[in-house]
Amino acid sequence: NQTQESPEKKAAGIYAASLVKSGDKVGLGTGSTVAYTIKELGRRIREEKLNVVGVVTSYQSEAIAIEAGVPLTTLAQMPELTIAIDGADQFDKNLMAIKGGGAAHTREKIVSMSAKRFVVVSDPKKKADVLSVPVPVEVMPFGKELAVRQLKELGGKLVLRAAAKKDGPVITDNGNFVIDCDFGEIQNPKELAARISQIPGVVEHGLFMNVDEVVIGKSDGSIEILKK
Ligand code: A5P
Repeated sequence: NQTQESPEKKAAGIYAASLVKSGDKVGLGTGSTVAYTIKELGRRIREEKLNVVGVVTSYQSEAIAIEAGVPLTTLAQMPELTIAIDGADQFDKNLMAIKGGGAAHTREKIVSMSAKRFVVVSDPKKKADVLSVPVPVEVMPFGKELAVRQLKELGGKLVLRAAAKKDGPVITDNGNFVIDCDFGEIQNPKELAARISQIPGVVEHGLFMNVDEVVIGKSDGSIEILKK
């Protein structure tokens, strides 16, 4: 959420915008950290005449990009992106990440996998020895019951994500539900990812294995970079 300024998120977000060069096609993730990146790209476009186009991952990022003056295109028009920048909810030292706290992980995965380089912008609280936050799983409404049963068989404690200002479930930008699945400490994220993907009706889960680098912002404005 964008209500509180975060020096950590700001440091990471602004640094990531400096990785973008003129001519780049940029995947724009979702969330409060990458919002700093999008706004900084807007500033560079205005003040440095940076020439870039973005592909957004959510209605929220679309609105921020339009407000910031970042020209947008689609994957249909620009199927291969130079770089994608996005936040995460948690990551480990192998750069495995859990995303989807904003229910945008399906488009985020498509956009980040369409990019040659995927940079995650984050803060120190998100680093973990072992991934352990609940894994968001986007599920087609028609398949919810089967998905619930099979996700429970994988050991998950499940919560159908509720909407904040509506009675009932969150509906994603793709018209689906999100089930938050708490697996405790995830010792083998790759195996879990493969198993979740096999469930019919699962559109996408929030385990990301395609992160190339993580930028960690610090409260003093400095950054640390973890690379594969
Ligand atoms: C959106 O669904 C998520 O994957 C976000 O990228 C993630 O929740 C990071 O958000 P913040 O940057 O707001 O922490």
